[in-house]
Amino acid sequence: MPESLLPAQPELLCEAAALEERGRAQVFDVLLYGAPARAFALRFEGRVVAYLNRCVHVPTEMDWQEGQFLDMDRRWILCSIHGAAYEPADGRCVGGPCGKGRLTPIRVEERGGKVYWYPSRDIRPVSFDAPPSESLPA
Ligand code: FES
Repeated sequence: MPESLLPAQPELLCEAAALEERGRAQVFDVLLYGAPARAFALRFEGRVVAYLNRCVHVPTEMDWQEGQFLDMDRRWILCSIHGAAYEPADGRCVGGPCGKGRLTPIRVEERGGKVYWYPSRDIRPVSFDAPPSESLPA
């Protein structure tokens, strides 16, 4: 079966306790259509949500500082560039220059005290080729 048709294996993202309610997000590297990109996960109303770190207005990263995506009231995801506001629960644009757009969601799962994310056809994990193992003398 081609690799693209296999069910996605979850990737460990972080300890569940690392994501506090409306706190700092966990930022992680992905490959978007094979090119390096970043994504983030945060906890909102008890649930972990994750999105590509890419504004709908201009395809750029949105955090104010690494992992800081929420506005001062911790109610909306706010793009630091021109202030587009998104609903954390579903990534929908609720104000500003993102129009009827929506952040690109990434499936996440919280299980056994850890958070996992699921690659998709378009968003893949960054994998590093293992260095060749040293050959042992015969
Ligand atoms: S780039 Fe995000 S609002 Fe313009």
